[in-house]
Amino acid sequence: AQDPRIAGISSAIRVIPDFPKPGIMFQDITTLLLDTKAFRDTIDLFVERYKDKNISVVAGIEARGFIFGPPIALAIGAKFVPMRKPKKLPGEVISEEYSLEYGKDVMEMHVGAVQAGERALIVDDLVATGGTLSAAIRLLERVGVHVVECACVIELPELKGRERLGEKPLFVLSLGL
Ligand code: PRP
Repeated sequence: AQDPRIAGISSAIRVIPDFPKPGIMFQDITTLLLDTKAFRDTIDLFVERYKDKNISVVAGIEARGFIFGPPIALAIGAKFVPMRKPKKLPGEVISEEYSLEYGKDVMEMHVGAVQAGERALIVDDLVATGGTLSAAIRLLERVGVHVVECACVIELPELKGRERLGEKPLFVLSLGL
């Protein structure tokens, strides 16, 4: 049986058709943030799953992984590491390129933020094609970090992001179209 909190979380996510362009059904988590019960339940469900998994790093992906990642990190006693768009981080970075629907993007992380052998959870709001999460996994694994799991609020199953992640486990709370 599904956790009773899931229905409230799913219904607090607003879907906006044709944003940012025609044909896209935008999954808007800002309405989830306005619903104090649904927001708390979201964080609690992740914390319950990860609190005893010996995770020392929560890696949050810009931009909405910066909303969900830090409360999870604090509650499980892990540090928070931002995975950013290029040229945003002031210190020395390592970068990973990844492909988008049209073109390429780059994700960056500060050198020294994580140490080889640490155990990480990657957090974002949504997985679509899985390209973003794959880049985050590669970036962490390149520096010897073990990625325990990826956690997102929403999965768009039609885009088969889960397949792109291969063996890496993906945990989501809600499915979108
Ligand atoms: C969205 C979402 C994920 C990514 C998922 O971010 O928040 O980070 O796309 O897509 P993928 O699974 O196909 O890689 P967006 O591109 O809107 O960037 P933003 O959060 O900085 O606005």
